[in-house]
Amino acid sequence: MIRFFAFVLFAALFAGNAPAATLPHYGTDVHLGVASCAGSTCHGAVEPWKNSTVLQNEYVTWTRRDKHAKAYEVLLNDRSKRIARNLGLPDAHTAQLCLDCHADNVAADKRSKQFQVSDGVGCESCHGGAARWLGIHVSGQSTHQDNLNLGMYPTADPVARAQLCLSCHFGDERKFVTHRLMGAGHPRMSFELDTFTAIQPAHYRVDADYAKRKTVAPGVQTWAIGQAMALAQSMEALADPKRGRDGIFPELVLFDCHACHHSMSELRWQPRSSTGLGPGAVRLNDANAIMLAAITKRVAPELGQRLTQQVTALHAAVSQGRGSATDGAKSVAEIARQLISRFAAHNFGREDVQALLGALLAQGRAGEFQDYAAAEQATMAMSALAATLRQLGAIDDKQHQAITAALAKCYDATQKDESYKPRAFAEALAGVEAALPRL
Ligand code: HEC
Ligand code: HEC
Ligand code: HEC
Ligand code: HEC
Repeated sequence: MIRFFAFVLFAALFAGNAPAATLPHYGTDVHLGVASCAGSTCHGAVEPWKNSTVLQNEYVTWTRRDKHAKAYEVLLNDRSKRIARNLGLPDAHTAQLCLDCHADNVAADKRSKQFQVSDGVGCESCHGGAARWLGIHVSGQSTHQDNLNLGMYPTADPVARAQLCLSCHFGDERKFVTHRLMGAGHPRMSFELDTFTAIQPAHYRVDADYAKRKTVAPGVQTWAIGQAMALAQSMEALADPKRGRDGIFPELVLFDCHACHHSMSELRWQPRSSTGLGPGAVRLNDANAIMLAAITKRVAPELGQRLTQQVTALHAAVSQGRGSATDGAKSVAEIARQLISRFAAHNFGREDVQALLGALLAQGRAGEFQDYAAAEQATMAMSALAATLRQLGAIDDKQHQAITAALAKCYDATQKDESYKPRAFAEALAGVEAALPRL
């Protein structure tokens, strides 16, 4: 109930007059299949067109360089066969469980004749079933808003995009990667909206013409919204009686993997003030909450204080049985939903970006990146922030390169999750601090 209300609220405030978007997978529109987008005069050109508002070679980028094009094929490989065998599934490539995220798995009555599920995560998995909008879209006479009105998904809107990407990169009420799936051999998932948007790779160009047609959210805002949405969704999963539990245990995928999965001979426990937990406790994965503590300090201090209190109370509820974990998770989710609206309305400027970088570095000094997941998020965050500083002209190319070189050490320190050493990461962070010019 709370979620529905919150969604309508931000849709009304921030997505202009766009109707609240239904995810492509769950909509009522018929999906026509990738072939219907890939004509050589449509999106299947080999080279980008010079006199077109869009590149026209999106299909080629997707099919050659985008992992989504291979998402179905992956289900035929040995790893998937092993996962399917371990779960007692006849096949991965026919299991709804796998197809829901590895393909555009809409119901049979939403598939046109040309539709191929083997296309994997195709154009309409993100842009929405094209049956109603294809006609006016091909005519070249429609505006972006016309397309949206006919069921195109608003991928340019950062809130809608976060909802879309996370529905597969974390999961939602209808599809979810549980610890049992991990135990069967599914890789650990990690996601950061701005970084993953950049490495997809982009099959579009954000230029002056684009900005006339669409919302352009700066990287820092995309990052912030992605963090708040990820926290909201994981807390909603924890509070959900279906997804939040597995037998007498809570759903372990919501916890810090390395709280359990690291070598016993390597003693590394250190107190961390934001959990308030003692040694030997199974910790929730609070990496998104840590990022949000840094963001809210600058952008929404009162909400940030409430978030920090509620997250600490939730840690206590989960691992010490003090209070109700379900109520705690709901309170955190509610604050995270409010933060989504706050960030969507906030005009992130250069001072904000500098303050956020400073806040992350301060968290590092305070020992908040003891756990791998937080260090991984912090690394992606700092890259996104440094890129935004460059975009805003606050630093020049040379300064950006110096920061990027220092960040490469953070990437090295977070390369292998199982051998993560907090001390090496702290040293890498000191290098980033030294590379940051005094602005
Ligand atoms: C909630 C969505 C979701 C479900 C359900 C899901 N996956 Fe995945 N899977 C993903 C995502 C997202 C990735 C990419 C993770 C990354 O690289 O960050 C992935 C990655 C993989 C990979 C690694 C691919 C590679 O390129 O190395 C395999 C193999 C895989 N999944 C198999 C399966 C199988 C088999 C099932 C069904 C039993 C399944 N997945 C169910 C979302 C899902
Ligand atoms: C994983 C999600 C995803 C998939 C799959 C995907 N796109 Fe996109 N696409 C996006 C995002 C995100 C954007 C950028 C936001 C926007 O402009 O709406 C975008 C933008 C675009 C644009 C807009 C360019 C502009 O300047 O306005 C076109 C055209 C496009 N995609 C076509 C395609 C085609 C064709 C395919 C399939 C071959 C495809 N996309 C597959 C997510 C996706
Ligand atoms: C329908 C489900 C689905 C949606 C929606 C989706 N993805 Fe994915 N994504 C996947 C799967 C499955 C994989 C793994 C494919 C593989 O490894 O072959 C993947 C892989 C990726 C990768 C490659 C990761 C790596 O380890 O190299 C990036 C980057 C990515 N997705 C970004 C995005 C972004 C950004 C969005 C939203 C605009 C998005 N995805 C939406 C299912 C999805
Ligand atoms: C509360 C502790 C705990 C947490 C947290 C936890 N796991 Fe596990 N994990 C286990 C246990 C126990 C097993 C079963 C070990 C066995 O069968 O020998 C297991 C098994 C696994 C396996 C299979 C290992 C094998 O031997 O085949 C994988 C992979 C895995 N977990 C991944 C993850 C990931 C990824 C996360 C975080 C998203 C995670 N786990 C979080 C306790 C945990």
